[in-house]
Amino acid sequence: MTSPASRTRGPEFEQQFVRRAGQGQGARVQTGIAELDDMLRGGFMEGDAVLVAGSAGSGKTTLALQYLVNGIVKFGEPGIYLTFEQMPDQIYRDAKNFGWDLRKMEEENKFRLICTSPDLLLESQGENLLDEVIKELHPRRIAIDSLSHLEMFVAKGDLRKEAYRLVSFLKTKGMSSLLIWEAGQMSGNSFSVTEVGLSFLVDCIVALKPVEIESAVRKALVILKMRGSDHDKQLRQFEITPAGIKIESAFSNYEGVMTGSPRRVASEKFTELFRGASEKRK
Ligand SMILES: Nc1ncnc2c1ncn2[C@@H]1O[C@H](COP(=O)(O)OP(=O)(O)OP(=O)(O)O)[C@@H](O)[C@H]1O
Ligand SMILES: [Mg+2]
Repeated sequence: MTSPASRTRGPEFEQQFVRRAGQGQGARVQTGIAELDDMLRGGFMEGDAVLVAGSAGSGKTTLALQYLVNGIVKFGEPGIYLTFEQMPDQIYRDAKNFGWDLRKMEEENKFRLICTSPDLLLESQGENLLDEVIKELHPRRIAIDSLSHLEMFVAKGDLRKEAYRLVSFLKTKGMSSLLIWEAGQMSGNSFSVTEVGLSFLVDCIVALKPVEIESAVRKALVILKMRGSDHDKQLRQFEITPAGIKIESAFSNYEGVMTGSPRRVASEKFTELFRGASEKRK
């Protein structure tokens, strides 16, 4: 069967669409980061709003760009990166250092970088701002970097309302969105997202956080919630490499990683003691 969407996007997209649609749990939007897609049981659910929460320098922008670039390069899905953050040149440059040529993708009408002030996204202005690009690009993915900046421009207590309006708008346009949230130090399962009441608005939350283990700071990724799907519940170590985000093993030998005071689990200590004792006996 040929979907209306696939008719306009060629065989590569069609193959992908069929593959995702065939997974039984609803169509998936693959991040293209194999281990993350495994953690998500195939990818994000199509049309979902995903919150990526993390502290400064945790890799939020890298993850968002990689999601968009993979969407374009691997899955034929155009994308928008909307930022209130940095100067555009810096984003093009940083992306290029990962091997992602955003300018070329823009020339090919597959990508659009929008640098704007948060107040232009508020109320119906946001829809005007995006409508033109949506008509030109037919985007399937969008990343907004970041919702935290939006907070500075809304009246106290209005962030939920504005975020709800934005998320609903993106959904009606058929886009899967990745919304970045700058969280302070997260401890336990609660961090500022839950405090400002954004967590119920989004369908999925991916948290990135630094953890200090044995005097080294490592990066951890965890899926805190995912509506309508099973997902990996473990904290996985990841690194930002010159090719982008690379997800590694789980912190399975540690407990208390989320709360910021990781300890080796007893079984691990026991194994070590046992190993030490048996080596002494040799
Ligand atoms: N080309 C690269 N190769 C390897 N690592 C890189 C590269 N570019 C950036 N990094 C790493 O990624 C980190 C920043 O990641 P990123 O900008 O995605 O984080 P962020 O969470 O968006 O940060 P901020 O809170 O400042 O917006 C850098 O501190 C650096 O460690
Ligand atoms: Mg950033």
